[in-house]
Amino acid sequence: MAAPDRNEFRQTVGLLPTGVTVVSAFQASGPAGATASAVCSLSLEPMMMLVCLDLGSRSLEAVREAGRFGISVLGESQRAAAEMFATKSPQEEKWASVGWRERLGVPIIEGSLARVVCELAEVIPGGDHVIVTGEVLEVEAEDEPGEPLIYHGGLFRRLDAGEG
Ligand SMILES: Cc1cc2nc3c(=O)[nH]c(=O)nc-3n(C[C@H](O)[C@H](O)[C@H](O)COP(=O)(O)O)c2cc1C
Repeated sequence: MAAPDRNEFRQTVGLLPTGVTVVSAFQASGPAGATASAVCSLSLEPMMMLVCLDLGSRSLEAVREAGRFGISVLGESQRAAAEMFATKSPQEEKWASVGWRERLGVPIIEGSLARVVCELAEVIPGGDHVIVTGEVLEVEAEDEPGEPLIYHGGLFRRLDAGEG
C-alpha cells in the first residue's frame, strides 16, 4: 500500500464516529475553549482522562497555564457551540455564545450532557498534537441526558433514534 496523503488519512480516520466535546480552561484573560473529539477515558484507578490537542490550539496554552481543564460533552442541540468553539474567534466571542459557569476553577458549558473537571497530569508529545492527561476531580451528568452530538465523516450527526 502506498503511503497515504494527508486528505486520505483525514477522510479515513474520520470514519470513526466520535462524540463532540469542548475542552476548556481559564487563563488570565478569561475562559478559553476548543471543540475536541479526540477525548477519551484513560484510567479507572486513578480516574483519568485524555485529550489530544493541536500544538497551535490557544486552549492548550490555557490548559497549561491553569493546570486544570474541563470537558463538556455536547448534546445534539449544541451543534452551534461545536461550530463556534472550532473557530479561531476571540475567546470572549466563543463564550458569549453559550451559557457557562465555573466549576472548581474551570469554565464548563451549561446544557452539556456531562462535564468532567481534571487536574492536569502530563502533556505528552504526539506529532503536531500533544496528549494531555488529567486526573479527574469531579464528574457531573444531567439527570436525563439527551442525545449526544456525533461527528462522523466530516459532518455533525445525530444518533439514529432506533434501538438495538
Ligand atoms: C468536530 C471537531 C473535532 C475537533 N477535535 C479536535 C481535537 O480533538 N483536538 C484539537 O486540538 N482540535 C480539534 N478540533 C479543532 C479545534 O476545535 C480548532 O482548531 C479550534 O479553532 C481551536 O481553538 P483554540 O485555538 O481557541 O483552542 C476539532 C474540530 C472539530 C470541528
